[in-house]
Amino acid sequence: MNQHLKECFDSCRPQVDAYLKQLLFADAAGRRFAWPLDEAMHYSVDAAGKRLRPLLTIMAYRLCAQDWQRALPVAAAYELVHTYSLIHDDLPAMDDDDLRRGEPTNHKVFGDAMAILAGDALLTEAFRLLAEEVDASSAVVVKLIATLAQVAGRDGMVGGQAIDILSQGQADGRDREFLSELLETLHKRKTGAMITGALLAGVDLAGGDSDLRLRIEKFGMFIGLAFQVADDILDEVGDQDILGKDIGSDRELDKLTFVSLFGLDEARRKLFNLHREALLQIEPLGAKGAELKALADYIVERDR
Ligand code: IPE
Ligand code: IPE
Ligand code: MG
Ligand code: MG
Ligand code: MG
Repeated sequence: MNQHLKECFDSCRPQVDAYLKQLLFADAAGRRFAWPLDEAMHYSVDAAGKRLRPLLTIMAYRLCAQDWQRALPVAAAYELVHTYSLIHDDLPAMDDDDLRRGEPTNHKVFGDAMAILAGDALLTEAFRLLAEEVDASSAVVVKLIATLAQVAGRDGMVGGQAIDILSQGQADGRDREFLSELLETLHKRKTGAMITGALLAGVDLAGGDSDLRLRIEKFGMFIGLAFQVADDILDEVGDQDILGKDIGSDRELDKLTFVSLFGLDEARRKLFNLHREALLQIEPLGAKGAELKALADYIVERDR
């Protein structure tokens, strides 16, 4: 991670973590961990995630405004939805994984039913946060809610996850061009959409204009896709201890991934091209885009 990004991470992350910690899910008397559902929710949220999506919201907000702490509830909403998606992604009915964020997966500790419910509750809590905790006009709040619904749901993450599951073990004998298009759609939805949404939420909260919004949307799609290509590569060649999650899971489940379809070298080339395209989008921002550039660099270089 380069110095620029490290400074940004170091300055925001403690406040993001503190916000998530205080937020979740005290009762009226301020008691936490009152029952297993709360414990299951905390377990995954408090674990060592990279907090990439909150950071994206904050970085995008800072393109237009300084008081970035105002973006914390929005940043947290994206992290809650992302964490729910990971809990469900690891379930036996999906990827059936044992390790996540360096810890046993949620269902391994709390059982399938509580893991499903913890995910459901995190998703719902995210929308409560947007509706109740954001300091913005009603029009902006509605826009934030609509964007999260769009990128998390049928046309975004959930839709992508459905394609991921449906395409498992289905590649043999299919036309490569068809598979390549399917794969791009799958990755754009399951990962790119939430990453783009997190960025757009920062722009919308800060009142960025439509030109900036469009530019950031394109940037988000390129880095979002790049992020999942890197994830596919790391599933093949990453270090499980550094990643904190199971590797080899895609191959075992015969997933359609950039590595399974194109091989490692070509997947790396695609990653490089996506990175270049992403940088072209933010070039006109000049020095203001330095944090986003550092982040795009990190996404292609990352080892976790
Ligand atoms: C993992 O996301 C799932 C994908 C969308 C590829 P991250 O790699 O951001 O996971 P955490 O948040 O750091 O655990
Ligand atoms: C899942 O993709 C993306 C989500 C929406 C959670 P993966 O299944 O490749 O994510 P990992 O590798 O388990 O983190
Ligand atoms: Mg998966
Ligand atoms: Mg998975
Ligand atoms: Mg993966």
